[in-house]
Amino acid sequence: MILNSYAKLNLFLSVLNLRRDNYHNLDTIFERIDLCDRIKLTPLKNKEIKIISNSSQIPKDSSNFAYRAAKLLQDTFLLDNGVKIEILKRIPVGSGMGGGSSNAATVLIGLNKLWKLNLSKARLAELAGKIGSDAAFFIYNCPFALGQSRGEKITPLKKLNKLRLYHVLVVPKISVSTPMIYRQWDRLVLGKKKNKSRLTMPKANVKILTSVLLKKDLILLGKLLYNGLEPVTRKVFPKLSQIRNKFKELGMKSYLMSGSGPTFFGIVSSEEEAMSLYTRFRQDKNLQVFVAKTRC
Ligand code: C5P
Repeated sequence: MILNSYAKLNLFLSVLNLRRDNYHNLDTIFERIDLCDRIKLTPLKNKEIKIISNSSQIPKDSSNFAYRAAKLLQDTFLLDNGVKIEILKRIPVGSGMGGGSSNAATVLIGLNKLWKLNLSKARLAELAGKIGSDAAFFIYNCPFALGQSRGEKITPLKKLNKLRLYHVLVVPKISVSTPMIYRQWDRLVLGKKKNKSRLTMPKANVKILTSVLLKKDLILLGKLLYNGLEPVTRKVFPKLSQIRNKFKELGMKSYLMSGSGPTFFGIVSSEEEAMSLYTRFRQDKNLQVFVAKTRC
């Protein structure tokens, strides 16, 4: 069985508060994009879970998200089935595009069929949420969704089902630790919030953003895209501000950092425009650059 494991972007990410379990409550809009890994699942006769990948950057042991997904199914349903999981990595690792969470969700979806478990989407999403906060989104097979709670409570944004956005993705060679960025958020934003001032505030809510997305008004959209983690990640890695400035210099209207970074993405009106920006950003050899579109 061969499956695509898609990446995500966050078009909106508002961190609401720190929880008792040290996670943060969020309001976020996920977009599924066509940049993807390929995952091949082959049944094994013994209980073994074996990870193989072209990437040296992902672990091959029990800490791998795809491994954890298979193990969670084995443990929850007391199964003796094993599986070889081959991961062809194309989504940059630790980039803010949810590659690990997507791999976990894809393995859950695949093994549900391969091992004939007959689990519902809701049950698969619940299991996915145990592995990563972003993993549940990929279970729902929808292009856009609202994520709440830790990000694992998913409501598909059905009104946006036909919307297709074009992107240029710019990934600097910086390794960003998500827990560290959230800890810095606690220090820089939560600390300040007590004094009633924040680094940035969202100018829109999910409802407004949904209607602006439907109109494809890129100028207005650019003013409303929001990621509360972006100023934090830029403070920790000041070089990221240069990338942001480059988007502005190139005349782009809509751009944002995804997740905890370091990927920056632009929203443009056509594949041609995305390709021309790709060529401009590629001149900098320190950047990985992709074109992508919504995976409808
Ligand atoms: O769930 P995930 O593995 O993506 O989270 C990685 C880390 O990011 C968590 O251990 C936590 O420190 C932080 N996080 C958070 N609040 C969220 C999601 C992640 O604090 N909603």
